[in-house]
Amino acid sequence: MKFDTPATENPIDRLKVVGKPTDRIEGPLKTSGTAAYAYERHDAAPNQAYGYIVGAAIAKGRISSMDIAAAKAAPGVLTVVTAASAGMLAKGDFNTAKLLGGPDIEHYHQAVALVVAESFEQARAAAALVRVQYDRAKGQFDLAKSLDGAIKPPASFGTEADSRFGDFDAAFASAPVKLDARYTTPDHSHAMMEPHASIANWDGDRLTLWTSNQMIDWSVGDVAKTLGIPKEKVRLVSPYIGGGFGGKLFVRADAILAALGAKATGRPVKVALQRPLIINNTTHRPATIQRIRLGGTTDGKLTAIGHESWSGDLKGGGPETAVGQTRLLYAAAHRMTAMRLSVLDLPEGNAMRAPGEAPGLMALEIAIDEMAEKLGIDPVALRILNDTQVDPEKPERRFSQRRLNECLTLGAEKFGWKDRNPKPGQTRDGRWLVGTGVAAAFRNNINGNSAARVRLERSGKIVVETDMTDIGTGSYTIIAQTAAEMMGVPLDQVEVRLGDSRFPVSAGSGGQWGANSSTAGVYAACVKLRTAIAEKLGLAPADAVFEKGEVRAGGKSVALTKASVDGDLVAEDMIEFGDLAEKMQQSTFGAHFVEAAVDSYTGEIRIRRMLAVCAAGRILNPKAARSQVIGAMTMGAGAALMEELAVDKRFGFFVNHDLAGYEVPVHADIPHQEVIFLDEVDPTTSPMKAKGVGELGICGVAAAVANAVYHATGIRVRDYPVTLDKLIGRLPEIA
Ligand code: MOS
Repeated sequence: MKFDTPATENPIDRLKVVGKPTDRIEGPLKTSGTAAYAYERHDAAPNQAYGYIVGAAIAKGRISSMDIAAAKAAPGVLTVVTAASAGMLAKGDFNTAKLLGGPDIEHYHQAVALVVAESFEQARAAAALVRVQYDRAKGQFDLAKSLDGAIKPPASFGTEADSRFGDFDAAFASAPVKLDARYTTPDHSHAMMEPHASIANWDGDRLTLWTSNQMIDWSVGDVAKTLGIPKEKVRLVSPYIGGGFGGKLFVRADAILAALGAKATGRPVKVALQRPLIINNTTHRPATIQRIRLGGTTDGKLTAIGHESWSGDLKGGGPETAVGQTRLLYAAAHRMTAMRLSVLDLPEGNAMRAPGEAPGLMALEIAIDEMAEKLGIDPVALRILNDTQVDPEKPERRFSQRRLNECLTLGAEKFGWKDRNPKPGQTRDGRWLVGTGVAAAFRNNINGNSAARVRLERSGKIVVETDMTDIGTGSYTIIAQTAAEMMGVPLDQVEVRLGDSRFPVSAGSGGQWGANSSTAGVYAACVKLRTAIAEKLGLAPADAVFEKGEVRAGGKSVALTKASVDGDLVAEDMIEFGDLAEKMQQSTFGAHFVEAAVDSYTGEIRIRRMLAVCAAGRILNPKAARSQVIGAMTMGAGAALMEELAVDKRFGFFVNHDLAGYEVPVHADIPHQEVIFLDEVDPTTSPMKAKGVGELGICGVAAAVANAVYHATGIRVRDYPVTLDKLIGRLPEIA
């Protein structure tokens, strides 16, 4: 089904099932421990052997010698896979470095060997016997020191490195009120609960991987490319994923090395990346240095907006696209943005939890707060004043929906913003300094072609199959809701099967495109199935109504199961997105409000309450969406206050490479969170009229926290995370 005109009224609009707060249909499986994650697929193939990865101990250079004799001779060991034994491996389209290094080493903890043994403990013990000698080469590990060599990166996914509109330099120079400030965000790690894990099994020349992966079709392609086998020979199965956050968009070493180990031993091999290996072995969100210049009139109209961002990656990698939102968020007649990229020899950078906008807004939304203070205008009012209903750099393009101002206004009202003392450092609660902060949320909406197969079985059960994944987001449930709505059956009559490359290719889970795209694909397949059913029943498809297990048309009413008495009816289709998204700017908007308290003696920061107001099209399942946004707000709190990969700038690796050293927030860190969705439909996105919402929830949060800390203390921290060492010694005198 082509989608290239705005959606008209359709069966989804009845909202009997879609749009209702609905529990996860796979929830009982997960809470009872019976949803088998990749490493737990003991049923997948008999006689599984265990792999343990050896990571490189240098960041850059070469292996000069490698002695695997002792490891090979250790008890239970079946084989040791190295680059020397595996032969030349190609690099996948989505990998910047090779997944099996040697003799050249491209980053610290790049895999250099896989030890396969009868048990996990035997594999681990033998891995400690692998002796590797290295010739270490000099690398660049310091972003701040690399800026002179930074280049303008080529456009990626249609995003140019630079944008210019009007005459920024002149407008900024002559602006009566100016801000010119530098912000930094550190390297971040996804830190998902489930490690990257795979079980590989060969049946002749056919490879099956039970794995944990967000993007099945991309990854089938990359497994095939890396191993040099045809794509049709590879099957990926990934029905449950214990968190991805962008870290599982791509194939990683667990999958490739499991496949190589299985090939070498003739047995199924399972590999989970060891937790202390994950952070340097896989991808991370790259650190940024950002310069923001804002110019405005004394009455608060922005006239000049400039945003530059520097980040680094391995050779061949890309920039953190931290200036994207600045091209679209606020009006100003004169504008410039630029991204610059350094070659760094740290592990591979890539997408994590709203790449681009999340770190970009960490800087921009502090800058807006600073500008509001310079102007003496309330920060909510300043944002509202500079709203735009068109793309400020392409004024002929309107936003399909843009209700940022309503998010801000409603949020301010619900949060009690009007009682706020505009002066920072004024509110005390015993030993605590208390403050509130606000930030706008912005994330683009992306749609991707997505296919599904829907079957009406004799029993009346509806079965949906698509290679869409559920990374903890609720895909199973919203897909079931969509099929139930379309076919007029109760939710428990729908079975959803996901995450298998044997199913039709979906948009997958990434960039918050999954919910709208994949349900639209299911919608398309259901439209076809409805036609097939109506025809089978001799009813006119155009006016057939599917409701309560019946099909009604032309005054007749027939049980749905009548259509499948002779056997299952199956339909498959793909939603194909035309150029509607090019004609109109599709984005999601929100506002985050945070109350924070800072201990006036110790500088300890506690978040007291958080509120998000989101405008993201139709909300398919308010319960699942709320959970998404609450999780995202929590990640934003982590980015604000805790998360930071510490770079060893001498040897080039992330030092705190486990969950003890890399801190993320827990429930006790955030006592109160509230989420409000504006009642919205956007017919330009798909027949579902929905948009992504998960990543919107993280965008802007960290700045709202930083702004609240500023409001509490009067101390402006521009280098994340905002930790007590950056406050202590600058806290106001205690009376
Ligand atoms: Mo997302 S960071 O595109 O999984």
